[in-house]
Amino acid sequence: MGYDTIFSSIKSICLFVFVLVVTTSAQSDRCPFDLLYHLGDGVFDNGNSIANMPYGSRLPAARLPYGETDPGRPTGRWCDGLLDIDYGAQGLGFEQITPYLSPNVSSANAIMFAVARSPVLDRPFFTARNIRIPPYAASLNVQMSWFKKYLNTICSTREDCADKLANALFLFGDVEANDITFGLIQGKSMEEVQTYIPYITEAQIDAAREAIQLGATRVILPGNAPIGCYPFVLTELASNNTTDYDDIGCLRTINDLITLKNNDLQQAINDLSQEFPDIFIMYADFFNSETSLIRETALSGKFFFFFFAYSFALNAYSANFTLQACCGTGGRYNYNSRRFCGSPGVPVCSDPNQYLFWDGIHLTQEANRRLSTALAAGALVQLNCTISQSSQLWASI
Ligand SMILES: *[C@@H]1O[C@H](CO)[C@@H](O)[C@H](O)[C@H]1NC(C)=O
Ligand SMILES: *[C@@H]1O[C@H](CO)[C@@H](O)[C@H](O)[C@H]1NC(C)=O
Ligand SMILES: *[C@@H]1O[C@H](CO)[C@@H](O)[C@H](O)[C@H]1NC(C)=O
Ligand SMILES: *[C@@H]1O[C@H](CO)[C@@H](O)[C@H](O)[C@H]1NC(C)=O
Ligand SMILES: *[C@@H]1O[C@H](CO)[C@@H](O)[C@H](O)[C@H]1NC(C)=O
Repeated sequence: MGYDTIFSSIKSICLFVFVLVVTTSAQSDRCPFDLLYHLGDGVFDNGNSIANMPYGSRLPAARLPYGETDPGRPTGRWCDGLLDIDYGAQGLGFEQITPYLSPNVSSANAIMFAVARSPVLDRPFFTARNIRIPPYAASLNVQMSWFKKYLNTICSTREDCADKLANALFLFGDVEANDITFGLIQGKSMEEVQTYIPYITEAQIDAAREAIQLGATRVILPGNAPIGCYPFVLTELASNNTTDYDDIGCLRTINDLITLKNNDLQQAINDLSQEFPDIFIMYADFFNSETSLIRETALSGKFFFFFFAYSFALNAYSANFTLQACCGTGGRYNYNSRRFCGSPGVPVCSDPNQYLFWDGIHLTQEANRRLSTALAAGALVQLNCTISQSSQLWASI
């Protein structure tokens, strides 16, 4: 292990301390808007999939150990505790985000439309290609139709609705990981799945454009996470060619495909910004934020073992651990789709805070917390939110 590695490990520990400082101060942040609407998938689902009947109540997220860390019972979040957006919401000045499929939705000012395992594209796109998608999934169009139904309950005329939406922040995603992985895991080639990218981007942009035409003035479109590092992808799409993996063990081939997709989205966002020069339209870089988190964790694990165990042999172990699911069983990544987290007899790690990945498809609360602060700092500045001194410090790094 060289000095470079040690240096980057020390850097990561310093970054980690900064993140802690920001988290405690973010709650006083306030922004110049009062409403929040968020569409997406399981990264942000805070109770919709388990309420989407008749399948919902049988889903893993409706049972322990989901929610075991916070609040100690299942909430419908696909996590041991809180999501990225739960931390983000506080920074944006919202006390809580209400799932659309919950009874209280009409009185809520922040509403989550995201449903776990949902793709951007509609069901017929996949059916035509013989790709199965979960019955409870709700595509971006379906979530937009829910949004418009909700909009009808809070305003009646076009002008009235536009006035309301001018006071809102819209988030569209991230959501496209499922469009990519359903096909790949069900045996489609990389070349074929790559041809889906223009359709995915177009559907995302169409949804954003529709919201803008209804009156939205602030829109954030997140890019996709580095799913080539996720236990479910590493397990289902394992390769016996070492050149398919990067230095920390992520599937380079998959992350390259995601990068291609994210670049396409960014290009389309630039075009949309030219179409609507007065509207705030932002790309949120999940890919690089998450890649840094995974990379720093893998390397700081090495750092820890280097000093406390004096053993090079353990380096490999700590790096594997970074890419393992906390809740799950089997194989190198602790993941088996037939024995998913929440199924009878499937073990859970004793300390989820030591893991980035919860069930192999979603992150732990601890990973979400670390990720949200890194992402929020930049967004808060651009959204003209009042931010506290320590947040400013963070944002300027
Ligand atoms: C509905 O609103 C009431 C009052 O604000 C609150 O106590 C309750 O927890 C909410 N229920 C849900 C499902 O959010
Ligand atoms: C490994 O590579 C060989 C030769 O390319 C191939 O036949 C085999 O199916 C591969 N095994 C796996 C598990 O991918
Ligand atoms: C492994 O992948 C590389 C890059 O795609 C390729 O050049 C090489 O031939 C592959 N090796 C095997 C054994 O398939
Ligand atoms: C970690 O990965 C290496 C290969 O890089 C493997 O030999 C080792 O058994 C793995 N360790 C664990 C605990 O999975
Ligand atoms: C932030 O404030 C500046 C200056 O008043 C304004 O031009 C810009 O549109 C605002 N941005 C957002 C997202 O509200």
